[in-house]
Amino acid sequence: MFTIPDISPRERAEETASKLRHIYPESEIQTYLPLIEEINQLKKAKNTLILGHNYMRPEVLHGISDVVGDSYALAKAASKANQDIILFNGVYFMTESAKILNPQKKVLIADPSAGCSLADGITPEDVRRLKQEHPGAPVVTYINSSAAVKAESDVVCTSSNALKIVSALSEEKIIFIPDRFLAANIAMITSKTIIPFQADCEVHRQFTAENVDQARSRFPGLAVLAHPECSTEVTVKADFTGSTSAMIEWIENHPEEKRMLLLTECSMGINILAQTGDREFLGPCQLCPYMQKITLEKIRDTLFFERNEVFVDEEIRVKALRSLNRMLELA
Ligand code: 13P
Ligand code: SF4
Repeated sequence: MFTIPDISPRERAEETASKLRHIYPESEIQTYLPLIEEINQLKKAKNTLILGHNYMRPEVLHGISDVVGDSYALAKAASKANQDIILFNGVYFMTESAKILNPQKKVLIADPSAGCSLADGITPEDVRRLKQEHPGAPVVTYINSSAAVKAESDVVCTSSNALKIVSALSEEKIIFIPDRFLAANIAMITSKTIIPFQADCEVHRQFTAENVDQARSRFPGLAVLAHPECSTEVTVKADFTGSTSAMIEWIENHPEEKRMLLLTECSMGINILAQTGDREFLGPCQLCPYMQKITLEKIRDTLFFERNEVFVDEEIRVKALRSLNRMLELA
C-alpha cells in the first residue's frame, strides 16, 4: 500500500504533481490539479473517506485517496470508517461491500456502471444450483461478486487471503466461485478438492504463457509478477503471484529490479512508476474498462451533489455481511 501523507490540500496538490511528472506532460498535469484541489476541499467539508483501488487512474489514486490498496485492504478500511460518507473509487462490487459493512453511512461511486466481468458472470441461482449438486461443500466466494451472490455464500475471500480461507475451513471439498483461474491457482497449492465455476476476468484472461516466454528471451533475468486471476499456464511461469498490494510490496522489497513484466491491469504499473520514478514495466497494456470509468470530473460531481448512492436490499445485506465478516475473522 502507498502511504498517504496527512497534509493540506495545496501541499497535497504539489506532492501529487511531483508524482504525476514521472508519467504525464506538464500541460496534462495542470488540467488535473484544480480538480484535485476542489475534490480535496469537498472531501474535508463533507467529512468523506475516499478509498482508491490500485487500478485507479494515477491522478485519482495519487491525488485524492485517503486509503489505497487491494480489495481486502479497502474492505477492511471501509469496515473501520468513521466519516459520514465513503466515496469508493473502484468498481461496483467494491462499493457494495463497503455499504454492506456500513449500512448507516452514505456510500458513493463516481460511475455506477463500473462493473466487473467476474461479478457479472455469476447469479445467485448459479450458486444455489452448485450447492444442490455438492451438498455439504461450503461456498467460498471471491469478493469480485454481487451482494446477492455473497448472500448465498458461506465465506468471502480476496486474492490476498483465498488460500488462508480455504485452509481455515474444516471441509475437504470446497465450492470456489466465480473465478475459474483463481480457483485453479488455489487448487494447485492446496490438497483440498476445489469445485470451480466458469467465470473469469476479461483483463487477466488475455495474458499468455507466450507473453512470459517472449519477454524472458528478450530480457534474460527479468522478474515476472502475475495476479492470481491469470491462468495457471501464466502463474506457473511467474516469479511471484499475488494480489495487487502483494505485488506492490514485492516490488518495494526488490529495489534492484528496475524492469519487470507485470501481468495485471496496466494502470498499476503506471501508478508504481508515478510513486517511484524509476521502474519500467513490460508487457501488453491491458486496461480494465470498468476501472477506467472513474474520472476526477465524475468524482467531483458525485461528491458535490452526493449522487450515485449505493444501496443493498436489507435481507441480502444481512446475509452477505455474515460471509464478509467470516472472511474478516478468518483472514
Ligand atoms: P485485488 O484484490 O488483488 O486488488 O484484485 C482486485 C481485482 O479486481 C483484480 O482484477
Ligand atoms: Fe473485474 Fe477484471 Fe476489472 Fe478486476 S480487472 S475489476 S476482475 S474486470
